[in-house]
Amino acid sequence: MNRLLVIVIGILLTIAFCWTGIVFSSYVQLGGLEHYEDEATGEFYPPPRAGIAQRGQKVYQELGCVYCHSQQVRRPGYGSDQDRDWGERQSVSRDYIGDRTILLGVRRIGPDLMTVGERQTSRDWYHRHLYDPRINTEGSAMPSYRFLYEERRIEGEPSGRALDLPEGHRPSDGYEIVPTSRAEALVEYLLSLRLDYDLPEVPTE
Ligand code: HEC
Repeated sequence: MNRLLVIVIGILLTIAFCWTGIVFSSYVQLGGLEHYEDEATGEFYPPPRAGIAQRGQKVYQELGCVYCHSQQVRRPGYGSDQDRDWGERQSVSRDYIGDRTILLGVRRIGPDLMTVGERQTSRDWYHRHLYDPRINTEGSAMPSYRFLYEERRIEGEPSGRALDLPEGHRPSDGYEIVPTSRAEALVEYLLSLRLDYDLPEVPTE
């Protein structure tokens, strides 16, 4: 009986120790983080994501982009992220406080996307890339997300939202490829991935 008590107390102490080390100490360190207010402009950073970009984040999660793309820029000396043009500064905890789910990622089969909204600013580029990554990058290993687009017959005027595709990727005459609302939300999310603001703990200069 005594031994059982020792084992139970041992288990409880181990759990309490882990909880203090992992959960409680992180909460003490980071739980009070808030958006940073730039007093000169009155703006808050990181800037909140627009509603459509938040919906796009859900699409990003559902489609498993996180299995191939990270969202964390490492500091110099811990990798070559900045030399690869993946961000002018490292990412820090405060950069993520607006998100409910933080998609840091654990593998980089594709490039880090933490600042992709600064590197690629054209909506058309993103749509072409998602429709068929081989259009922008020959031999790309990224899967195509063609199911986010609808092929439909042009009735009257062609849609202003139709994709501008190069020769060899266009649908048959009289048809057009139009993004669904999920594709549009996903692109807004990708455009919102930026680190072009300063935080007191990590200035860009
Ligand atoms: C199987 C791995 C894989 C998956 C899954 C994947 N990607 Fe990629 N992605 C890549 C690779 C490899 C590249 C680099 C080559 C290229 O441009 O195609 C890339 C490139 C990109 C780029 C261009 C980055 C830059 O720096 O120019 C974007 C944007 C992107 N992916 C978005 C996504 C999104 C959004 C999803 C989910 C819908 C996704 N990827 C899913 C492998 C993947």
